[in-house]
Amino acid sequence: MAEYDPYESGPRGHSRRDFFRGSGVAAATAVLTGQATTALDEAKAAESEPKVLSGEVKLTLQVNGESRSVTVEPRSTLLDTLRNRLDVTGPKRVCDRSSCGACTTIVDGVPVYSCTTLAVACQGKTIETLESFDTGPTGVPHAFHQHDGLMCGYCTPGFVTACKALLDKNPNPTLEEVRRGLDGNICRCGTYIGVLEAALAAAKAQKGA
Ligand code: FES
Ligand code: FES
Repeated sequence: MAEYDPYESGPRGHSRRDFFRGSGVAAATAVLTGQATTALDEAKAAESEPKVLSGEVKLTLQVNGESRSVTVEPRSTLLDTLRNRLDVTGPKRVCDRSSCGACTTIVDGVPVYSCTTLAVACQGKTIETLESFDTGPTGVPHAFHQHDGLMCGYCTPGFVTACKALLDKNPNPTLEEVRRGLDGNICRCGTYIGVLEAALAAAKAQKGA
């Protein structure tokens, strides 16, 4: 889910942003000739060449406004790195395969499944987890508490995080927009009514703040 933006995505895997970015490159190519076109082609080829990493890599990640250094294997996921190496345990491991949303983490403003996002891909990006959220009366966690948006709680950190990402991007969502913004998360206890109410209540509280 690393590149999936629920607010901007079209048919699976291709966001509108990617489409416009691609169109921009195509348009630029169309007006360039000779050397300039060759330079553009070389730059594009270098960008798309895979980089092979091995051994351990030292990363600096921006987590909840702090710069955190960590050494991990290149295959380490963001979830493992946060939980096991940086002691940031807000994102939970439940399915570990991009299907439940319990591990949702906000990377550069976009909710991602951290269980299938490589930590190395998050360098230079902002990473936000539950630990940094406002827990006061206008915060999303408070709304979940007030509207019974949880039962066993396994899914709750992911829902709260996806909801925060949604409201950051769209402070005044309709019920349908909330449904769509949270549709990457699953609650096995079926607390969806409470979750939707909580999201709308948080939006309302934040408007009045
Ligand atoms: S633990 Fe990542 S999606 Fe379920
Ligand atoms: S509250 Fe139990 S899985 Fe959602």
